[in-house]
Amino acid sequence: MVRGTRTKIVLLGAGGLLGMECQGTLAEMGELIALTREKLDLTKHQQVKAVLQELRPAVVVNCAAYTDVDGCETRPEWAHLVNGLGPGILAEATRELGAHLVHISTDYVFEGNRAVPLGYTEEDPASPQSVYGKSKWEGEERVRQANPRHLILRTGWLYGVHGRSFPRAILAQALKGGALKVVRDQFGSPTWSRTLAFQITALLRAGVTGTVHATAHGYCSWFDFACRLIPTRRDKSRDPSLYHCGISKTSQEARQLHPGEKAPFGTGPGPHGHMGRGTGAILA
Ligand SMILES: NC(=O)c1ccc[n+]([C@@H]2O[C@H](COP(=O)([O-])OP(=O)(O)OC[C@H]3O[C@@H](n4cnc5c(N)ncnc54)[C@H](OP(=O)(O)O)[C@@H]3O)[C@@H](O)[C@H]2O)c1
Repeated sequence: MVRGTRTKIVLLGAGGLLGMECQGTLAEMGELIALTREKLDLTKHQQVKAVLQELRPAVVVNCAAYTDVDGCETRPEWAHLVNGLGPGILAEATRELGAHLVHISTDYVFEGNRAVPLGYTEEDPASPQSVYGKSKWEGEERVRQANPRHLILRTGWLYGVHGRSFPRAILAQALKGGALKVVRDQFGSPTWSRTLAFQITALLRAGVTGTVHATAHGYCSWFDFACRLIPTRRDKSRDPSLYHCGISKTSQEARQLHPGEKAPFGTGPGPHGHMGRGTGAILA
């Protein structure tokens, strides 16, 4: 897929959490043209086609997406435009050029209620529950239909030095002090964005195509993850209290528990404001 240092690679979503990381790794593989949203907007379909026709890359890596899961619920048309139609346009444009398309997708294409430690494999049927998950699944399907030379990488629970991520949010909250509520009955595999960026280059070099799951090893709950992120201080009076809570898979409402209280999995209407996303799935 990548034949040497002169291979032309276009990166979309270059300003995001993963895109920033990919700028470094992809630049070592060839001639990299890194495009932020300001330079190329996935919703401007004619512009996307025109820019790619002009640049004529051998490989396009798409890290661009509308990733605000809650925002997708209130802006489903926008989610459809960016995450559903956008990748389809990219796939058509790359097929016309005979180029490869690497497209990043998500654990949200699965229902996410499989009992741990069972994970979802590439062969498992998708069953997205949220607008975000449905829009990403649509994007996957359009890529598969439009360009056979594709690599769809499903990942989950990304964190890194760039962009928004769970560790940043939890640490910011912790620094403010007070109680933190974190769900503990949603599980996934926290994945360093740099690890994924290296996985992308390794798969490109190996010429892998199709749909592939790519995360770090192991799994934990959001609560476990938060416990590892918040350092223990000697001065206990400065420690934020860390609470866990149960989250209903249907209502997605969380209930704050007292320290030491057992979380009733899958139940518990109550106040919102918990940390952790609405679903979680381990990708095997
Ligand atoms: N973060 C995770 O935990 C996670 C988990 C599973 C899968 N993924 C997938 O991994 C990929 C990268 O996610 P990420 O975490 O790096 O997200 P991110 O930090 O939100 O980055 C996404 C980038 O896409 C850009 N973008 C949004 N709308 C666009 C548009 N219409 N045209 C062009 N660019 C647009 C954003 O620009 P603006 O900032 O200007 O909007 C942003 O730079 C996405 O496909 C996402 O679905 C992420």
